[in-house]
Amino acid sequence: MSSKDLEIAVAAAKDATKVIKSFNDQHRSLNVQYKGRHDLVTKADVASEEKIISVIKDAYPDDLILAEETASDNTLSEDRVWIIDPIDGTTNFTHGFPAYCVSIALYEYREAKIGLVYEVTHGEMFTAEKGKGAFLNGEKISVSNYSKADESLLGTGFPYRDLELVDEYLDLFKVFMYETQGVRRPGSAAYDLCSVAAGRFEGFYEYGLSPWDVAAGALIIREAGGIVTDWNGGDDWLFGKRIVTGNPDIHSYVLKRLKENISEKHRSGKK
Ligand code: IPD
Ligand code: CA
Ligand code: CA
Repeated sequence: MSSKDLEIAVAAAKDATKVIKSFNDQHRSLNVQYKGRHDLVTKADVASEEKIISVIKDAYPDDLILAEETASDNTLSEDRVWIIDPIDGTTNFTHGFPAYCVSIALYEYREAKIGLVYEVTHGEMFTAEKGKGAFLNGEKISVSNYSKADESLLGTGFPYRDLELVDEYLDLFKVFMYETQGVRRPGSAAYDLCSVAAGRFEGFYEYGLSPWDVAAGALIIREAGGIVTDWNGGDDWLFGKRIVTGNPDIHSYVLKRLKENISEKHRSGKK
């Protein structure tokens, strides 16, 4: 049985999805604003975020919120903090390209307690509670057990804000082109993480991600039996902007290739 926390997250995600769908006939005509280079926000992102926050605050007025469109400081405390991405995959959304979702996580004592990712187009709801496994529309999911690179499909994101790593990133990409069955870039990090959890991708790596992109999906992967680390194999993936995940074997493989192809400076994000 799911907890009240998860029930509230599900209710918030369902309401937000209705809000997002109400903009469905407007994708390309939505008034897109730019927060930064190639960094889009639409009124659908803002309306979805307002809806999620109002559902959570109605249930838990004292809980803290770290949400993409209203975040002022990117930190966690010991308190209950809801980490929200109102639309992950806004660029896809503005093009009417499937793979955009709502991502909601609850952290307490700096640890993930609840993770939920709801992909809007296909109606796929991924959920996890700490210690209780991971689910897709109520059915238990787990990472795949393909252990060899040449049996693997990987996911990634292509950098578009911080382009400092591009050359090394492309070298790494070339290695995976030779050694794996392919690399996909669906355009929603939260959905990519759930694709690892559901055994569709064997591994995923990206840099430049924010806490709201990964907070929910990372718990879903761990509860599905997968591994989540930063690019040095450590724990600084929530705020550290570098994440690598996978089933246990392919996580090790991707991490090894990251270490071989990305310089220490860039793996650690030290300028
Ligand atoms: C983006 C998506 C994308 C990733 C970007 C994120 P947004 O989130 O997750 O896959 O490559 O770095 O910013 O901006 O659509 O919420
Ligand atoms: Ca996002
Ligand atoms: Ca977003």
